[in-house]
Amino acid sequence: MMLLCIRNLSVTFDTLRGPFRAIEGIDLDLYEGETLAIVGESGCGKSVLGHAIMRLLDDIATVDGSVKYKGQEVYSMEKSELLNLRGKSISLVPQSPSTSFNPVLKVGEQIKEIIEKDRIDKGPAAKKRAIDFLAKAGFSDPLSIYNSYPHQLSGGMCERALIAMAVSVEPELIIADEPTKGLDALSRKSLLAMLHEMAQGASMIMITHDLKAAATCRRVTVMYSGEIVEEGRTSNLLNSPKHFYTQGLLEAQPSRAMLPIKGRHTLLSHNDIGCRFRERCDAADEMCKNHPVLRRRDVMEWVRCHHA
Ligand SMILES: Nc1ncnc2c1ncn2[C@@H]1O[C@H](COP(=O)(O)OP(=O)(O)OP(=O)(O)O)[C@@H](O)[C@H]1O
Ligand SMILES: [Mg+2]
Repeated sequence: MMLLCIRNLSVTFDTLRGPFRAIEGIDLDLYEGETLAIVGESGCGKSVLGHAIMRLLDDIATVDGSVKYKGQEVYSMEKSELLNLRGKSISLVPQSPSTSFNPVLKVGEQIKEIIEKDRIDKGPAAKKRAIDFLAKAGFSDPLSIYNSYPHQLSGGMCERALIAMAVSVEPELIIADEPTKGLDALSRKSLLAMLHEMAQGASMIMITHDLKAAATCRRVTVMYSGEIVEEGRTSNLLNSPKHFYTQGLLEAQPSRAMLPIKGRHTLLSHNDIGCRFRERCDAADEMCKNHPVLRRRDVMEWVRCHHA
């Protein structure tokens, strides 16, 4: 069953320097039980997309297009439906673990509070559930973590506790924003294994810079400058990327040539209608002055490039 169906989604921020379009024309489908990675350089709009799905953007954001969750338009939901969506259906593991907990409350109390709000478990039952999920998140002494304050935990421990919090309400969809940020290779590997194990039975969108993390998902979507530029099954996309940007991202990996993509990721200018990657692309020619559409190349394979 289709869980999430996004069509022509754009987000524009009303800033002091005028309107700024952070994402544009996003089409995305997610099926029940699927895992999807969203990759792309800093500032390309990954977190904005994640927040837009849950209607969590603040008032300076104008959202156009459609986000349907199980067939229901998120942007026409009543307040109670929206609370249900955010509490029971979709859980977000936010991007900055250290600022996502309230610093003056114990970690466990905060998880318990979420459980009490979104599930029937109350009091001691909620506490037990919180401790159980801390244990599942790999803490050998979950009770002491329960009683810790956020500043007493390292970045990696905070991330684990946040994941425990997000999955403790048994959501249908988990959106994990940069779950491996700042972790060393070993912790990253174990965190990813833990995340997938805990997310079993649910669907997941994993937002990440890290192609190794993306490789643990079934499908990958590549974003550049607010748009989707390529999408495909993980093994196809990582083994034979079609878009020059995806090829560049792969070359820039430490395990490969570690060659950075030339030039800088630029934010879109509204006047420029061409391919957004063309200034950085060796294959760019006259044709690229026209904006390429996201074109279907094969089953589950999409690419936005005149030359692919
Ligand atoms: N509230 C806001 N007001 C104005 N601009 C914003 C706001 N939130 C995000 N942006 C801008 O939208 C663009 C996309 O931001 P976003 O946080 O989605 O990037 P990202 O891909 O998640 O990057 P990173 O990998 O660094 O987390 C950025 O240029 C950012 O500055
Ligand atoms: Mg982000």
